[in-house]
Amino acid sequence: MPSIYLDHSATTPLDPRVLDAMLPYFSDNFGNTLAVHRWGREAERDLEAARERVARLLNCAAHEVIFTSGGTESDNLALRGPAQAARVEDRPITIITTPVEHEAVTATARQLRDTLGAALRIVPVDRFGRVEPDALRVGLRNLPADGVAIVSLIHTNNEVGTFNPIAELAAIAREYGALVHTDAVQAGGLVALDVQTLGVDMLSLSAHKFYGPKGAGVLFLREGTPFLSSQTGAKHEDHRRAGTHNLPGIVGTAYALELARDELADNTARLTALRDRLIEGVLARVPDAALSGHPTERLAGHASFVFRGVESNTLLMHLDQHGIAASSGSACKVGNPQPSPILEALGYGPEWTRGGLRLTLGHSTTGAQIDTVLEVLPQAVERVRALSTLYSV
Ligand SMILES: Cc1ncc(COP(=O)(O)O)c(C=O)c1O
Repeated sequence: MPSIYLDHSATTPLDPRVLDAMLPYFSDNFGNTLAVHRWGREAERDLEAARERVARLLNCAAHEVIFTSGGTESDNLALRGPAQAARVEDRPITIITTPVEHEAVTATARQLRDTLGAALRIVPVDRFGRVEPDALRVGLRNLPADGVAIVSLIHTNNEVGTFNPIAELAAIAREYGALVHTDAVQAGGLVALDVQTLGVDMLSLSAHKFYGPKGAGVLFLREGTPFLSSQTGAKHEDHRRAGTHNLPGIVGTAYALELARDELADNTARLTALRDRLIEGVLARVPDAALSGHPTERLAGHASFVFRGVESNTLLMHLDQHGIAASSGSACKVGNPQPSPILEALGYGPEWTRGGLRLTLGHSTTGAQIDTVLEVLPQAVERVRALSTLYSV
């Protein structure tokens, strides 16, 4: 049976070159970055070197890079930091976001509404999952004069792969005096990210999405952005995120991001060609199927579909039985299939919203694997539909 991993948007394997770079920090170079002795000084030197490397790649100053435990934490800090700072000053908080964010943003925004009384505004998206500039302008109307507004927009959608026009949207948000965060977790390492061109105040990354280690991430925090730390303790990360540094993870993050940048052009060209072959093949062979997300403004290795009258989990199990690892892109439980809120926000009707399939390609993906998927998937969809009450011709 083949073994085909097409779930690179969920996570990627650690690049062996990154592992090699990390290994000494588990053994010989184990020092605590705050210690005054040689081990500590060397650890701090390597920490700051990693920070410089990430800053160079993002085009920001080194002290604007905060190392975190991953995308979820970075998203949390991006919303909580400015919101808590506003709360201390008793200023009204408004969070403006979209229905297609990752739960790390949506759940945090809801909690800040419930605990700090933040006003929450949800800006609709178009049928590809993009925020339209005029819709954002509507969302930014009538902000309280003495308040703090935080706009959080996903850079690249995890479920449907669409890019948001972040630079354009951030410029609009800044006209209204809002702070701008973008969750670039899916874009990290796969798209060139320059925080000056994007014009954002905060940007989240997660290393395990670009062949780096799990449990390691970055928050870019622009100098001058009001920010109160959520995790208090010692003076790590300039008092913005306390806790002994995960130096193996930090070194691995910086190196993985560098490798991704060096290989970006080749990787993008290769994955785009494979992705387009996959999309064309699926749409030609599977009836009642559609591509979800934008046809061209999408992540290189990201193919996502909706199949009418299909329940994703059953399809995923069929594919798994054929050695193909895929995802629906949204979290739904076996036995309790829920429609995807992302697909609903894109305007798909109930006969489509349980049938999302995400196939995300990566370093290991080959043309032969795509051919196998194109053989297996049409039969799998047919079988699932034959067993389903959701599908009628
Ligand atoms: C868009 C997006 N944001 C945030 C996260 C969370 O990142 P992490 O797994 O590093 O916590 C993910 C993970 O899938 C994601 O896709």
